[in-house]
Amino acid sequence: MSDKTDEIIEEFKRKLTGVKTGEDVENLRVEFLGRKGKISELMSGLKNVPKENKKSFGQRVNSIKNDMEESIRTAKEKMAAEAVEAEIKASEDYDVTMPKSIETGSYHPITLVQRELEDIFSSMGFTIEDYKEVVDDYECFESLNIPKYHPARDMQDTYYLDNGQLLKTQTSAAQNAIMKKYGPPLRAIFPGRCFRNEATDASHENTFFQMEGLMIDKDISISNLIYFMKTMLSEVFGQEVTVRLRPGFFPFTEPGFELDIKCLICGGKGCPSCKNSGWLELCPCGMVHPNVLKEGGIDPEEYTGFAFGLGLTRLAMMKYGVKDIRTFNSGKLQALCQFNDR
Ligand code: DAH
Repeated sequence: MSDKTDEIIEEFKRKLTGVKTGEDVENLRVEFLGRKGKISELMSGLKNVPKENKKSFGQRVNSIKNDMEESIRTAKEKMAAEAVEAEIKASEDYDVTMPKSIETGSYHPITLVQRELEDIFSSMGFTIEDYKEVVDDYECFESLNIPKYHPARDMQDTYYLDNGQLLKTQTSAAQNAIMKKYGPPLRAIFPGRCFRNEATDASHENTFFQMEGLMIDKDISISNLIYFMKTMLSEVFGQEVTVRLRPGFFPFTEPGFELDIKCLICGGKGCPSCKNSGWLELCPCGMVHPNVLKEGGIDPEEYTGFAFGLGLTRLAMMKYGVKDIRTFNSGKLQALCQFNDR
């Protein structure tokens, strides 16, 4: 028996090294492992094996069969990967050298606004941070002075994963990690995609972008906050803007504000754009709450800071006159391609 099995194994190995295509591999499989293949032929010899050797014979043939199956599987995977590779190569050869007849692409309007803000803030010494979209309860709420069952959570219902993680509702979710990463003093902005459980309409989306800013140092005051916001917004809108602060409540600020700018369309007289109030609500902000600093490992007796959560999506709507927020996620290229050269 040993001669015969060794022969079959050798033959299998020899043929396996010669296969070139997926079809070759399949033929090899049928030849050896098929219903009438060499292994099954070998197995049929079992009846002639003396009783005391039957068990070991069966085990040996089975183990050869398993090895062959494994080799066939590996060879098939290799062939499939090579086929994909070849296809990519062929299409690359074709595409890259061909002149394109369609127009070249453009940046999404939110990307444009984001990049502009990143330029402005990095020129003022802020680092730009990237952060996760899936966060945990601590990052999004607890570390921001929003304990479980706090009513502020109602406005920020979101999508939860089975493991308790959630899609972040606000870029503020990165504040704690950034404080721990850099320690004071620090200046950082962190743009990001946020999610909330919202019924969508022209001004509500379940997926939108914010840009958070955080500055922590000794003696930071509300005047610093106003200065940075005014500089940044004047730059974005390409003209001097007038800002005002109104009280606002956010558990992670003390005090907290809503920052408005004087309406750029009517200059403050009142028009449909500003709902006749002369002002546009633009950016919630505030002085970082001492509990939030403490949680981030920063001593609130020694350091203070401000933070803001600019609605990038909203800013893009204002800057480009986009009336329906749903346009941004619509994938409608006719609308989304228009802003690159402005
Ligand atoms: N995270 C808040 C929101 O999405 C906005 C916000 C308010 C951010 C005040 C801040 C802040 O950093 O200081 O509603």
